[in-house]
Amino acid sequence: MSADTRNPPLDLPAIKAAARLLEQGRLVAFPTETVYGLGADAENPAAVARIFEAKGRPSDHPLIVHLSPQADLARWAADIPDEARRLIEVFWPGPLTLILKRAAGIPDTVSGGQDTIGLRCPSHPVALALLHEFRQGQGGIAGPSANRFGHVSPTTAQHVREEFGESHPLIGCILEGGQSEVGIESTIIDLSRLSSHGPVLLRPGRLSAQEIGDVLGCAVALPDLAAPRASGTLDAHYAPATALALVPGEQLAQVLQELTAKGRRLALMHHSALPANAVSGTILATIRMQAEPAPYAHDLYARLRALDHAGAELIVVEAPPTGSGWEAVNDRLRRSAFDSVGVLSRLLA
Ligand code: TXA
Ligand code: MG
Repeated sequence: MSADTRNPPLDLPAIKAAARLLEQGRLVAFPTETVYGLGADAENPAAVARIFEAKGRPSDHPLIVHLSPQADLARWAADIPDEARRLIEVFWPGPLTLILKRAAGIPDTVSGGQDTIGLRCPSHPVALALLHEFRQGQGGIAGPSANRFGHVSPTTAQHVREEFGESHPLIGCILEGGQSEVGIESTIIDLSRLSSHGPVLLRPGRLSAQEIGDVLGCAVALPDLAAPRASGTLDAHYAPATALALVPGEQLAQVLQELTAKGRRLALMHHSALPANAVSGTILATIRMQAEPAPYAHDLYARLRALDHAGAELIVVEAPPTGSGWEAVNDRLRRSAFDSVGVLSRLLA
């Protein structure tokens, strides 16, 4: 997958300095094509512990390990099934994370005590250069999204600074890499239980279950209750600080009318033509999204952050289309708006 064309030229001295910081056990925020990551040396349990501390994330939540294209997979995964090799061949570097059985030598801190490991080779040129520099391309950078636990993921370096401040004691540096091209987190496919469950989609992303299934020549199952825990699959996640309600397009005009009649201060995100009543003085900010899944996903988190700063009591989001290609956008918005019905009834009471 090509990098965002707005990426500035590589700042190699900064990338080399960041690699040395990682080797010393410090944290480094780095751009990827999906969202920015908060990286640590995956083989240094003390460094990995700092990620959980900085994010305020429970330490039993497993992290994704980022690898360079030259990395020796057998160091990380105990068993590399043919299915994994085929997906890697087609989709790496790119926004696909594979869950495999963890190799014996890899500390279990990185996978929250589970016997599996999430592996991904990102395509962003800064991430690739950092992985190339770090431990001569043979290390792994454990990296969750560089946001505080439960918040919206960052898609620019500025968002990372908004999450953690200009200088955070645990974060050695924040590498610049422009706006993340994909804009939402990677697709996660569990290949660790192939014999019993086949390939299982744990988190939808830019790459759809259909595209993955086409390469594997079989259907990819949707998550089941026995699936490993994934924090991005908790009900309330990816959430702005302002309450958020998802409203179907056909109800939008009426819901806006009722809320503004109550004097509720609103921010609005929509993709269809606006209803005539959506120009009320109590709608403080309005953003129109592109009605295509890729540009919608690209903009989603940055726009949610902007609306979060509008001083509104509620962000109203017109529910996106549900057709093919929209699965990941709907998944993230459903989790941001985990209590739409309750929030709406409180604000309309
Ligand atoms: O696009 C991405 O995947 C970004 C960039 C930075 O690479 N990373 C990211 O990481 O979204 P994080 O930690 O915010 O989300 C990773 C998800 C979590 O839901 C985690 O539980 C799941 O991956 N995960 C990681 N390792 C796993 C494992 N061994 N088994 C099951 N789920 C795992
Ligand atoms: Mg995250």
